[in-house]
Amino acid sequence: MPRTEFIATGFYVPPRVVTNDELAGMMDTSDEWITQRSGIKTRRWVEPGTTCAAVAFEATTTALTRAGMKAADLDCIVFATTTPDHFFPGNGVYLQRMLGIPGIPALDVRDQCSGFIYGLSVADAWIRTGQYRRILLVGAEIQSPGLDLTTAGRDTAVLFGDGAGVAILGPTDADRGVLSTHLYADGQHAEKLWMDGPGVSHVPWISSELIAAGKHRVRMEGREVFKHASTCMPQSVMTALHANGLTPADITLLIPHQANLRISEMVQKQLGLRDDQVVNNIQKYGNTTAASIPIALDEAIADGRLKRGDLLVLTAFGSGFTWASAAIRW
Ligand code: UT7
Repeated sequence: MPRTEFIATGFYVPPRVVTNDELAGMMDTSDEWITQRSGIKTRRWVEPGTTCAAVAFEATTTALTRAGMKAADLDCIVFATTTPDHFFPGNGVYLQRMLGIPGIPALDVRDQCSGFIYGLSVADAWIRTGQYRRILLVGAEIQSPGLDLTTAGRDTAVLFGDGAGVAILGPTDADRGVLSTHLYADGQHAEKLWMDGPGVSHVPWISSELIAAGKHRVRMEGREVFKHASTCMPQSVMTALHANGLTPADITLLIPHQANLRISEMVQKQLGLRDDQVVNNIQKYGNTTAASIPIALDEAIADGRLKRGDLLVLTAFGSGFTWASAAIRW
């Protein structure tokens, strides 16, 4: 059976840089609080009206160019996002339409911050069984229009940013590629990080009452999320390593989902990793949910931090709760 290799990656973030000081002009917060609690200094926001499919399209164009491929060479799209352009259909078909490749399947993944690794797991299975040979895997988010930019929303508004990262995946018979993926979920914690509406548990699905009650805003029990994230991510990394007969010392690069610099530092400490083994770019982009891992991966590649034969490990944690890991021989 072949393995799944990364043929090319690409990412896109909108040009508008939003500083902590700019946020402090909108709500009761400060650069000091945001930096100390999360590590974030800036994030990117789109211009109003920009769609999630559009930022994914930009990232895809970069990846296709690097791969020396045309959109028509793709035979499947897997699109992970927490912030779809519409209730339905999912974003995969909008991206497919922009790419001008009707007919190929478009799968939408709804696992929030873990979406990219969940999507990778599905794409890997399809590629190994030969069902598809050129899969576009997308993590893309437009968080900014949904943020509550008043003091009431400050616990989440300062954290999230917009952006997209993609990978083009295909089979290889060489001794490299995805070694394993491990996926987890625990719905007991669903309401600890969620957006209540709009949704069919409300009658009607959306109403001025729902909006007046703020149910269309992200709600998060930050400390609970922090506690679970900083234990589940290292556990899932250890599971990935054990499954492949490896140890933390074998890791060339760990890319944790960029939720909070303090969480990434705790994951690093628990695994006993050096600074050069862990990728952090949350300082620049904030938490871009499903996009954070592919954006960080593309930056790490551009910085020359991954060479053929290196061991790359991905891990994520987010709403659901869902969490996941992947081990990849580069
Ligand atoms: O990607 C999905 C996963 N998401 C995460 O992993 C996020 C996980 N959680 C976190 O990153 C952290 O819990 C936060 C960064 C969200 C918050 O940090 P914290 O150290 O847990 O702070 P806290 O929520 O306990 O709040 C401490 C204080 C509170 O005030 P009082 O009650 O002590 O007076 C908050 O009201 O900080 C206040 N606060 C703020 N102050 C200034 C909350 N947000 C802000 C803010 N600026 N933006």
